[in-house]
Parts: sequence; structure tokens; C-alpha cells
Amino acid sequence: MVKIAPSILSADFSRLGEQVSEIEKCGADIVHIDVMDGKFVPNISFGAPIMKSIREKCKLPFDVHLMIEEPARYIEDFAKAGADIITVHYEADRHIDRTINYIKSFGKKAGVALNPGTPVSVLVNIIENVDMILIMSVNPGFGGQKYINYCGDKIKEVRALIDQSGRNIMLEVDGGIGCDNIGEVVNCGANVIVAGSAVFNNSDINSNIKKLRDGYLK
Ligand code: DX5
Ligand code: ZN
Repeated sequence: MVKIAPSILSADFSRLGEQVSEIEKCGADIVHIDVMDGKFVPNISFGAPIMKSIREKCKLPFDVHLMIEEPARYIEDFAKAGADIITVHYEADRHIDRTINYIKSFGKKAGVALNPGTPVSVLVNIIENVDMILIMSVNPGFGGQKYINYCGDKIKEVRALIDQSGRNIMLEVDGGIGCDNIGEVVNCGANVIVAGSAVFNNSDINSNIKKLRDGYLK
């Protein structure tokens, strides 16, 4: 089953709690939480205290995408603030295998994200131990960017690697996805779809999520 994960980076920050309960009511499956440090990416978003303040506003899993250098420094904070899945960037961590195990030591699911320019081959060994692979289809840092076309081939490559492993690993795609291209990424093998602007760009969240579902069901 394909899961829709709205990114609250594009939500109205002045009423984040309400927006999170609204996406739950409108049928979203996962809340995608973009954490940016102003160093790994050229933007700053929010940290664990803000996430903790909205944790009780809905029951959906919290999928934390850490776009921060040396992410292991903050994993305990996000684990204790209510994360369910914690994803770190391969490019931001010299000891990715250790960090995956560290995330799991808190009883959380561990994800690894790849920037558009990072080849899929870096996943060959760690695929045995991760719960989620996140393929970035824009250069991370901002919502509302254009989907990078070559990422479809990367998604197919990761799908083959996952199937070969025989493990139940989520394949998430993040950046520039809307109702016009969601069908394509799902066909390539993605099963968790992040959407920021396509969900929050107007006040009709219900119809936006419905259009995304129609985009891959048609
Ligand atoms: C980009 C973030 C994305 C972003 C997606 O750095 O990781 O989650 O908010 O936004 P859209 O869907 O607008 O590209
Ligand atoms: Zn993200």
C-alpha cells in the first residue's frame, strides 16, 4: 500500500498543531518532519521541542528527516520527543552503520536518505540493516522545488536492491511530487510519498490529498 506523508515544512507554522490534526482527518498516513540545521542544508526549520509540542495532536507516525551534520548528536532528543522513524543523510555522517544501530537502540525505525547526486551503490551493505530508504528528488533545503527527472531511475535501482534483500524496507521519495508525477514515482517502486506544497499550497487539504491518491490509482 502506498502511504502519503505530508511535509509540515509547508504548513502554517503559526498553527502547526491544528494542521497536523487536519492532515490526519484528511486521510494522511504519516507526518513528515523536516529538520534543517543551516549547515548541511542552507535553511533552518525547527528542532525537537517544536516536534514534541505537536506530538499529541494526532496519532500518525512521525517520520523525522534530519537534514543536519553529524545527526547522531540529536537522535536521542528526537527519539524522546516522539519520533517513530528517524532518517539521517548518508552524506552527513561518517559512521552511518553505527548511527543506524544507535537509532534502533531507542526502539525506533532507522532510515537513510540520499541526495540526488549520491549514487544508490552506497546502500549495498547497509540495506541489510535499515527500515527505510529515502531518495531525495530535489536538493534538500526548501519546499516547492522542481522534481529532478533522473531520480526515477534511482528509485527503480533501490526497488531492485530492496526486493533482492527480501527485507520489508520502506522506499520513500521526497521533493517536487504532486498529482501530475506521483503515478510515475509509484510505478518506479516508491511506497511512501512525501508532499509538502502539493498538500498545503491552499486551504483545501482534503481535496489535495485525494488528488494525490487519484494520481497513482488512475
Ligand atoms: C526538502 C524537504 C522536503 C520538502 C518537500 O528539503 O525534505 O520534505 O519539504 O516539499 P515539496 O513537496 O514542496 O517539494
Ligand atoms: Zn523531507
